[in-house]
Amino acid sequence: MPIPGPAHFKVAVVWRGDAQARAEARPETSRFKAVFAALERQGLAAEPAVWVEGQADLSRAQLMAVDAVLVWVNPVTKDTDENRVALDAVLREISAAGVLVSAHPDVIDRMGTKEVLYRTREMGWGTETHLYRIHAALVTEFPGRVAEGPRVLKRSRGNGGIGVWKVERAAGLDVLVQASDRSQRTMPLDAFLAERASDFAAGITLVDQPFQARHLEGMVRCYVSGTRVAGFGVQFVTALAPPEHGRAPPRLYSGPEGERFQRLRRLLERDWIPEMAALLGLEPDDLPVIWDADFLLGPKDAAGEDSYVLCEINASSVFPVPDTAPDALTATTLRRLAHARIQPAGKSR
Ligand SMILES: Nc1ncnc2c1ncn2[C@@H]1O[C@H](COP(=O)(O)OP(=O)(O)O)[C@@H](O)[C@H]1O
Ligand SMILES: [Mg+2]
Repeated sequence: MPIPGPAHFKVAVVWRGDAQARAEARPETSRFKAVFAALERQGLAAEPAVWVEGQADLSRAQLMAVDAVLVWVNPVTKDTDENRVALDAVLREISAAGVLVSAHPDVIDRMGTKEVLYRTREMGWGTETHLYRIHAALVTEFPGRVAEGPRVLKRSRGNGGIGVWKVERAAGLDVLVQASDRSQRTMPLDAFLAERASDFAAGITLVDQPFQARHLEGMVRCYVSGTRVAGFGVQFVTALAPPEHGRAPPRLYSGPEGERFQRLRRLLERDWIPEMAALLGLEPDDLPVIWDADFLLGPKDAAGEDSYVLCEINASSVFPVPDTAPDALTATTLRRLAHARIQPAGKSR
């Protein structure tokens, strides 16, 4: 049976909005203009599919009728109680029916939560990382660790700085706690630990990694499509800088060939991405068509080369910059559709 040409494949691009946004969504005027353009350029028929909370049936019907669904929806948003429960149920359903879904909710669960720092701690990008699954473990184990040096505690689920704290020893039994909104408090360690009980009560775990002293030298964001690096962004992130420190300048982008990053690119493509996939029980084709890995600079090695420390992986809503990213994610989508020898929508299901 001949493999259908790309023009036969239909792709839905999903983001969150209200009913009006869904009705009015157009490729040319959307935030994902560059993605639509890349999809069309490579011969895929792309349509917007705005996810409206409470209107799952509309989305389900639309998404069942396409070949691939590409999703940009954050799991947690700062000022609302929005979540992805209903969306994820629909995505699981359409994936089970044979539609390509990226990122699949199960894949986000494995790669996109801070627990990945713990699961991959033995890898080259890892540090001495701990996971507290229950409050009692935090209370027992954390005091000895923070006594040795500054630590960063992170809620397993969170983004945009919700639930990240730098904790370091202060006078006596006190600690200095800095949140990533740059507020600082000096308080008894016991009181800080007691506060954390509410995190566990909400079903969240806490990950503990050493504070990286070079954090102000720039965070390297690696954009990845599947198993291939699609570009880099460097940002001078100041989240855990002292309050008097200036604000961050904008991120600087380069394509996958960016000279400064070729060593990092090789490490990622040759070693770290395959190792991570194996550790997490994922196949290469499970990795999202666009995701990112954020790296802090670690200590220089014996040869004077920078080491890279994984800070987090974003898998659920990585906006595809730099300019090379939309084409890269399109190529990955196309390759997977062709590889799966999926019949164009409507014939296979
Ligand atoms: N181990 C660390 N050492 C130094 N700074 C850190 C460390 N972990 C996180 N940060 C800082 O805190 C910010 C937020 O942490 P991150 O893990 O990226 O969580 P999120 O983006 O989900 O809030 C980072 O961008 C970085 O500036
Ligand atoms: Mg971050």
